[in-house]
Amino acid sequence: MTLSSATAVAHPNIAFIKYWGNRNDTLRLPQNGSLSMNLAGLHARTSVDWTTDAAEDRLVLNGQPQQGAALQRVEKHLDVLRARLQISARASVTSENNFPTGAGIASSAAAFAALTVAGVAAAGQTLTERELTTLARLGSGSASRSVPSGFVEWVVGDRHDQSYAFSIAPPMHWDLVDVIAVVSAGHKVVGSTAGHASAATSVLQSARVAGAHARLETARRALLERDFAALAEVVEEDSNLMHAVMMTSKPPLFYWEPASLRLMKLVRQWREDGLRVLYTLDAGPNVHCICTSDHETEVRARMAALSEVGQIIVAGAGGPAKVIV
Ligand code: DP6
Repeated sequence: MTLSSATAVAHPNIAFIKYWGNRNDTLRLPQNGSLSMNLAGLHARTSVDWTTDAAEDRLVLNGQPQQGAALQRVEKHLDVLRARLQISARASVTSENNFPTGAGIASSAAAFAALTVAGVAAAGQTLTERELTTLARLGSGSASRSVPSGFVEWVVGDRHDQSYAFSIAPPMHWDLVDVIAVVSAGHKVVGSTAGHASAATSVLQSARVAGAHARLETARRALLERDFAALAEVVEEDSNLMHAVMMTSKPPLFYWEPASLRLMKLVRQWREDGLRVLYTLDAGPNVHCICTSDHETEVRARMAALSEVGQIIVAGAGGPAKVIV
């Protein structure tokens, strides 16, 4: 028997100040606070049916029944939800992304935000947004930032209930657009979870973490004041620092492709030409070019002229994770 079901949608997010490395891997308590923008138009749509009929949890992702690691990660998160909601039913989970999975557009963020919000609603319960962000964080750290609306900060915190995310500004605060150059949509070799675990093996990680709080303050102020030049400087530095840590971890992680570096250099050139555009890269080779909407057409045109760029995905600032059925 199906107890109840619900469907939720959540957007992925692009980090302006990055999360890389945990103080506690199990609880996903991060080494530093982070800041991001939800990506409108891109989403995970996830349905959860809590059912007393099944003996096992089930997961269908983009139409394919899942086994192994993907299913285990979802089962683990369903255990977290069952414990909090005080239910014992198994779940049938169906999830679809409308963007390429595992290509540096954080699919786990949208997936675990939607799973958390749908799972709670399907049990007929209501939790505060703050608690939903902490639960989503246990599934994937960056998922905490896909629960609130617009521009979102994840507070570092030193306990489970203190490491939460909140909206610092709604989507309409600033008409920023993420023009994503898809350099390679293939699956990542090393996923974020393994990457976080190896961050401490880089001699640069302690220096990156030591300055993260100041960069977060600078980025938050630049965002609130709509100061593009200040935002560009700190966001590019933060991305470069994270990739420097990745490249100097043991073993090293090289997410950049030659085309990624070419685009980064071009974006700085385009900014000198007068375009309000900046770059940032997550754990993949795709280059997220954040620009103001008045420069979107020009950024797209310049990007489309590059032979290395395959698909171009465009997303403005998106709203919160929400229940749709
Ligand atoms: C590079 O949140 O995907 O995108 O908690 O293991 O799921 P897990 O990691 P994840 O890490 C995101 C890393 C990043 C930077 C960021 O989004 O802040």
